[in-house]
Amino acid sequence: PLTAKVNDRDCLEIGGCDVTELVQQFGSPLYILDEQSVRIACQQYRDGWQKYYPGESLVIYASKAWSCLAVCAIAGSEDLGIDVVSGGEILTAIKAGVSADKIYFHGNNKSVAELELAISKNCRIIADNWLELENIATIASSMGKNVPVMVRLTPGIECHTHEYIRTGHLDSKFGFDPNQLDEVFGWLSQQSAITCIGVHAHIGSQIFEQQPHQDLAGVMVEWYKLALSHGLPISEINVGGGLGIKYTEADDPQSIDEWVKNVATALKIACDEHGIAYPRVLSEPGRSLIGSSCVTAYTVGGNKTVPGIRTYISIDGGMSDNPRPITYQSQYRAMIANKMSAPMTETVTIAGKHCESGDILIKDAQIAAAVPGDILVVPATGAYNYSMSSNYNRITRPAAVLVNNGEANIIIQRESYHDLLRFDRLPQRLIK
Ligand code: LLP
Repeated sequence: PLTAKVNDRDCLEIGGCDVTELVQQFGSPLYILDEQSVRIACQQYRDGWQKYYPGESLVIYASKAWSCLAVCAIAGSEDLGIDVVSGGEILTAIKAGVSADKIYFHGNNKSVAELELAISKNCRIIADNWLELENIATIASSMGKNVPVMVRLTPGIECHTHEYIRTGHLDSKFGFDPNQLDEVFGWLSQQSAITCIGVHAHIGSQIFEQQPHQDLAGVMVEWYKLALSHGLPISEINVGGGLGIKYTEADDPQSIDEWVKNVATALKIACDEHGIAYPRVLSEPGRSLIGSSCVTAYTVGGNKTVPGIRTYISIDGGMSDNPRPITYQSQYRAMIANKMSAPMTETVTIAGKHCESGDILIKDAQIAAAVPGDILVVPATGAYNYSMSSNYNRITRPAAVLVNNGEANIIIQRESYHDLLRFDRLPQRLIK
């Protein structure tokens, strides 16, 4: 949970910093990340596994949620590993000081160059398909390396979340079909440049149900047992991420502690049933590790009332800093950071500033009466906001500031117009 309170100026304070002062100092829009809250989430996962699971465990942060040096460094300093999905995320994790044996490389179409990078740095690879296995074998042999690999499988487990963020159903682009498992394990047992260390699956994201995660644990232990029967030196099960967070009052996710407890119990039961020693367990939370720890602060601009229908309030950001509403119809709530005790009597629609009618951040938000210049805060923007941000309409990306104990440090600088034009080239014949 955010380290938040209302101060005696009736303003929202996060990590001991007044949000309105942060905006004055660092500009608007602004991502405000609460370090203490990220650390607590890391600890809840890490300590949860230690408490509820008798075997070894490692939590790896799914950095697609927000990959940047500071966030990777915080996760690393809490003894977490990092899940990466591209060369860029690999380099970010390494540069943040995370050791390569705790970096797990995912993706359904890793390029040869990315595989070469991962292998040369001694990262672990989560193999998704045959072409990739062959590429890994070739690259590893040519470098004289032996690569630790996990095999990703499609578990065929359905869960209730937006169809764009479901990954566990059989008709998914990710991972091997379980029917191919025998063949994959057989092939792996012949390889000299690849060591199969484990199996992986991930069923989807923003999931509130517990049952699919428990079912997954059971299925994974069966796969693990199959790998053992092929004589593979397998020792890890990676149960993926997916725990949902609270965006609006209607959302009621489990706590991290409950999630770990349930998955750990399901794994233990399955291992006991199959008579196998408890493998090392990896889990890779993204959203639930970082999502609730950040708010985005915007400055309120003008408004428009369509009589009898609605009032729009415009803000100075929108779909370029938070593409989730327009992409997944995600719901958020908002508050006015400089009027925290004012009654939230207004029902307004918060409109982004992009030239697109769908750029609506929140439909029918319940907030205090707002005037231009007020600071509007949207909570729970730590996951898949900055990492999915764009320059649509040539709008510069906001800055991000890390707050802790009254101290604020920039972790991502605000983009400048110079940054926007950095990659543009004007062919000679177009120069006037
Ligand atoms: N592991 C794998 C293999 C994944 O694909 C993902 C997320 C995670 C772990 C982390 O899942 P989490 O704990 O964050 O649920 N952009 C979408 C979410 C896409 C999730 C992609 N994979 C959104 O904004 O909702």
